[in-house]
Amino acid sequence: MREDEEQYGITLVVNGISHQISVPGRRLLSDAIRHDIGLTGTHVGCEHGVCGACTVLVDGVPMRSCLMFAVSAEGLQITTVEGLARPDGSLHPVQQAFRECHALQCGFCTPGFMITIAAGILDNPAPDPAQARDMITGNLCRCTGYQNIETAVLRAAELSSEAIR
Ligand code: FES
Ligand code: FES
Repeated sequence: MREDEEQYGITLVVNGISHQISVPGRRLLSDAIRHDIGLTGTHVGCEHGVCGACTVLVDGVPMRSCLMFAVSAEGLQITTVEGLARPDGSLHPVQQAFRECHALQCGFCTPGFMITIAAGILDNPAPDPAQARDMITGNLCRCTGYQNIETAVLRAAELSSEAIR
């Protein structure tokens, strides 16, 4: 950071908690989440909007946090992977599905996948296998482990529908 660089005092609401931080205008939302707020579950891979590792929900919509400036997220509700589990610690259906289906591998890409799928199954609560595959096409896993992740999409949808029955 340059010493003479102008700083902006902003409030970011992440997982329902307000954080007051001071950042330069060029600070990426992904860096603000990780370095200023200290939530390191959101990962940064490409920083070009390609890999999806940095995906968070912004007002419920999956967004590449490496393509947003932190200052532009002020006043919006941000959800990171740390915000998926319920307050009592029980797992979100997507987390439970990853656990059951062995979809966790090296895990670098996992938070981005989980956030994408959490939003995806709200949009489409009963995806078929092709739709499950489509749901995750914007996220890259370098371990070529997509098969179990696709299975986890289907299981997460099942668990979600059981939860609301
Ligand atoms: S780090 Fe944001 S899409 Fe890759
Ligand atoms: S589990 Fe996705 S990059 Fe390894």
